[in-house]
Amino acid sequence: MNKVYGLIGCPVGHSMSPLIHNDQLQHKKISAAYHAFHVEKEHLKAAVEGARALGIAGFNVTIPHKISIIPFLDELDQSAELLGAVNTVLNKEGRLIGYNTDGQGYLASLKQLMEKPLHEQRYLIIGAGGAARAIFYTLASEGASAIDLANRTPEKARMLMEECPHKVDGNVFSLSEAESLLSDYDVIIQTTAIGMHPNETEKPFAASNIRRGTIVSDIVYNPVKTAFLTEAEKAGARILNGVGMFVYQAALSFEIWTGEKPDTARMSKLVFAQLG
Ligand code: ATR
Repeated sequence: MNKVYGLIGCPVGHSMSPLIHNDQLQHKKISAAYHAFHVEKEHLKAAVEGARALGIAGFNVTIPHKISIIPFLDELDQSAELLGAVNTVLNKEGRLIGYNTDGQGYLASLKQLMEKPLHEQRYLIIGAGGAARAIFYTLASEGASAIDLANRTPEKARMLMEECPHKVDGNVFSLSEAESLLSDYDVIIQTTAIGMHPNETEKPFAASNIRRGTIVSDIVYNPVKTAFLTEAEKAGARILNGVGMFVYQAALSFEIWTGEKPDTARMSKLVFAQLG
């Protein structure tokens, strides 16, 4: 029987997940299909029960359901426990198990550029939402401890810092404070939607103070190179766009469902082609 995988969220119309997962399923000769399902908040419970009843083999979860889906699942993997959110569900013989591949997906993309060990670097994370949380807690769980946070609302970043289950030696800054400290960091990670299409000219702050050789990463992938990354590159930074995080979180989901490692280079090529 052909398996069905999918994505639940709202909106899902512009998601590139169906494109890359269906291509990989074909490429790996796995007879299954991946479909994006638009699920409104009030239908989440019914959708999860429906997925179970229909024997959907696994699905991704996106905005706005990543946290609210938790009570409807049977079990959480430690990745989902750590982040308090789920982006991947595996249907294991009728038991729905929640995972979160966002943090490890990000880390896999970051490691492509990293030359020194994770725990020897000094990090600045911009933002304090769900994406910042996934990246922050995953870095901390892997042994990084010099991690500072900068956010428009510093109080939100302070809460994130206090709730971190791993020991970190970090400070919280406003965006303007962080701008003047940029030369202190080895890795700067922009996790907000600032600069995302259609607001392509927006930046969290100027990137001109960045040291040459610093890794500057932006999780936005549309546009592929944000205004922040463009400016950082001019200052001599090594830049990392958001396509890597998107591809690797998908790759880890694919592996959880099928047990097979997908071709990430092929996935990236498709995403870049789609983004133009
Ligand atoms: P996600 O789950 O995608 O990370 P989120 O939880 O809504 O999204 O968090 C959005 C993050 O982007 C927050 O850090 C938010 O800052 P505040 O905590 O001050 O709200 C930040 N953000 C969004 N739009 C912003 C803007 N125009 N300027 C500065 N920060 C912004």
